[in-house]
Amino acid sequence: MATALRRILSRIPANLITPFPNFGGNGAVRHASFKAAVLQEFKSPLKLEKYSVKKLKKGEVRINIRACGVNALDVDICKGEPNKEIKLPFVPGYEICGEIIEVGSGVKDIAVGDRVVALNKEKCFGFAEQCSVPAQDVFKIPSSIDFKSGAALVETYSTALLGLTRRAELKEGQVILVTAAAGGLGLAVVDVAANVYKAKVIGVCSNEEKAALVRDRGAWAALTYDPKAMLKTVNEVTNCKGVSVVFDTVGGEIFEESLKCAGHESKVVIAGFASHQVPKIIASSLLSTSISLMGVSLAHYRAVNPEVYRNIVLDSIDMCEQGLVKPYISSTVDLEDVNKAIELISERKSTGKVVVKVS
Ligand SMILES: NC(=O)c1ccc[n+]([C@@H]2O[C@H](COP(=O)([O-])OP(=O)(O)OC[C@H]3O[C@@H](n4cnc5c(N)ncnc54)[C@H](OP(=O)(O)O)[C@@H]3O)[C@@H](O)[C@H]2O)c1
Repeated sequence: MATALRRILSRIPANLITPFPNFGGNGAVRHASFKAAVLQEFKSPLKLEKYSVKKLKKGEVRINIRACGVNALDVDICKGEPNKEIKLPFVPGYEICGEIIEVGSGVKDIAVGDRVVALNKEKCFGFAEQCSVPAQDVFKIPSSIDFKSGAALVETYSTALLGLTRRAELKEGQVILVTAAAGGLGLAVVDVAANVYKAKVIGVCSNEEKAALVRDRGAWAALTYDPKAMLKTVNEVTNCKGVSVVFDTVGGEIFEESLKCAGHESKVVIAGFASHQVPKIIASSLLSTSISLMGVSLAHYRAVNPEVYRNIVLDSIDMCEQGLVKPYISSTVDLEDVNKAIELISERKSTGKVVVKVS
């Protein structure tokens, strides 16, 4: 019986199948509740609780979540340290991958059954079985990208692409220095720079195990943090000219040391402060080598330049579909074990991405 049903379903186009028996194809919600991992108090573990389904707002879609990427911002939220104010109770997680189960009024080009990724950075709610997201933050993915890869792809690869191409204008053969090169964003930068732009990547990170991974993902060299070794390798590779691009996600002392490796007319991209130390830059240090210092924020592009934001996310999906890049996932945990995922990132035990799987 089950086999016959599978055979029949396999002949029906996916978008015509109502994916979950608890939702009607017209968007009518029949089941009233679902599970979400909730932060009730800062610095306390997330707890699974039941939530009731709310009516969609105009322009929103509802996603049945299959996987959610865990990011540094989620960890900061749990610790009560983000830049923006968080009102508790709060459900973190914003890099969401799953299927559309309901479409609100005014939404075009998205249908029930579509496989999508969403960046729900405003409201989050990704560590849950379902959530609502504004359609402008939802992107269709092809069936060749599985849900876990989708949840590990868009935040870091879109930021890497924006920083490397639009801001630093990276060119083939240039030498680039990447800090925290085994982190989520760092490893995406290594992948795009080495494997798409054929740049010569020097990655730096905290231990040899991470360095081996960075080399394995395409870096020409990967070093553990040692300012003298970093400058020496850069000088060897560049004939003492310095690198053309620095991509920093750490800040603090590591940023200051990496600035010393920057060559004449080089571009220094600031993308984050994993160390939670925002360096103070002495403007005169930019003069001697005519360096350009530039920031990159995907969230800011979303706010002020939505066309670039959408196109860059679609480009990262395209690159993955074509097999040019591949997000690296070091750990996958079930929604029930979401606190383990937070712990791995907060203790610097993760490499690449950590993903929460929702069954
Ligand atoms: N601009 C944007 O649009 C954008 C987008 C995504 C992320 N970000 C930001 O970029 C930063 C990195 O993000 P990510 O996704 O790569 O995070 P991640 O996966 O947690 O990696 C961060 C890495 O930074 C290194 N690190 C150095 N000092 C650290 C410290 N004191 N505490 C923790 N980590 C430290 C660690 O690598 P080692 O152990 O090798 O040192 C760690 O693995 C975060 O600040 C994040 O908010 C910005």
